[in-house]
Amino acid sequence: MIEGQTSGTKTPKLRYGMVGGGQGAFIGGVHRKAVAMDGKAEIVCGAFSQSYDNTLATGDTVGLPRERLYRTFEDMIQTEAGRPDRPDFISVVTPNSTHYAAAKLALDHGFAVVCEKPLATSSSDAADLARLVREKDILFCVTYAYSGYPMVKHIRDIIARGELGEIRFVNGEYPQEWLATKLEETGQKQAAWRTDPKLAGASNCVGDIGSHIEFMVGHMTGLVIESLCARLDRFGPGRPLDDNATVMVNFKGGATGVYWSSQVAPGHDNALRLRIYGTKGAVEWFQETPNTARVSFLDRPIGFLSRGRDPMSPRAQSLSRLPSGHPEGYFEGFANIYSTFITALAKKLRGEALTADDLDFPGVEEGVQGVKYIEKCVESSAKGAIWVGME
Ligand SMILES: NC(=O)c1ccc[n+]([C@@H]2O[C@H](COP(=O)([O-])OP(=O)(O)OC[C@H]3O[C@@H](n4cnc5c(N)ncnc54)[C@H](O)[C@@H]3O)[C@@H](O)[C@H]2O)c1
Repeated sequence: MIEGQTSGTKTPKLRYGMVGGGQGAFIGGVHRKAVAMDGKAEIVCGAFSQSYDNTLATGDTVGLPRERLYRTFEDMIQTEAGRPDRPDFISVVTPNSTHYAAAKLALDHGFAVVCEKPLATSSSDAADLARLVREKDILFCVTYAYSGYPMVKHIRDIIARGELGEIRFVNGEYPQEWLATKLEETGQKQAAWRTDPKLAGASNCVGDIGSHIEFMVGHMTGLVIESLCARLDRFGPGRPLDDNATVMVNFKGGATGVYWSSQVAPGHDNALRLRIYGTKGAVEWFQETPNTARVSFLDRPIGFLSRGRDPMSPRAQSLSRLPSGHPEGYFEGFANIYSTFITALAKKLRGEALTADDLDFPGVEEGVQGVKYIEKCVESSAKGAIWVGME
């Protein structure tokens, strides 16, 4: 099967503003490139940094007029709300501790929101955002980036059809090596804020990457965590937050799992790997080779699925952009999330009903669950790695 994505082109371009993502930042630029890939929205304003000089320089590189570059996100959201050509949504790509304030202000002014994970640094703040989203009936996306890959959607559909049987056990891991030394002491800013509780929240490793495992397993299997037992380690001498975490989980319905995330694992970059075992078969997916998956069924030889080559579920195929053998990656995955969100928002603005496929992007409720998960891991570990319920 070689068809690429055939997304509609009727959607008029939406407008968006960005909070964070100044020059030198990591994920903001990824968001902008991902949006630009499909041309369904254009950036119209920004408060890209706490440094106004950086915001101006970033605005110049993305071609924004000075009048739409702001010293603070508060000024941007309040001023832009009164413009006739106001943005349709605001993307929040700052460190964790700013997500709540920026997203809340945007919601208060009626903007749809795309927000980075983790949604907030406390579950009460996260729940408050969810409440606002419900009350105001506003679309909200949390960018759990890895859910944008076509193969992930295909695996989700295989599992939903019961092809693996009943899921018994899930093994999820996300090792990285980048904090094996105390990089934060060199001035590397991504390391500095992630290891600072004031900016990252109560967890570094679980919040930053363990949260991806939690979301992805739920997304792909539908399993809901009932209780967990976590041990969070701090191997970096004097580091105030975790840099390695082992979590046992019990799911509602009897399945179990083990999640390991680490930033002190030499030899690993973004090695998110998920292995899902059912009564009839198993599947293994590795983020660094996202176009393929290993599938095994008890009654068949071990198989290997390839995006673009092998028949895929309709939803997965609709997100596939290139013929087989031309790898799609992180940008395309991110673009798929944005494309889905922007298309849904455009339909909503036109007053059209939204289908389940339209809403197939991570939403605020998943964001709330993610923050609860982080909090429960921290609580369990602090109490000596005891089992704690998710409720
Ligand atoms: N979804 C993913 O896969 C993924 C990947 C990386 C990072 N993230 C998340 O994205 C967020 C940002 O991470 P990063 O690595 O890009 O960080 P970063 O430090 O590279 O960039 C953060 C940016 O936000 C700006 N900023 C900080 N406070 C601000 C404020 N009050 N107003 C305006 N701008 C402000 C900084 O100046 C900087 O430009 C984090 O929440 C992180 O967890 C998600």
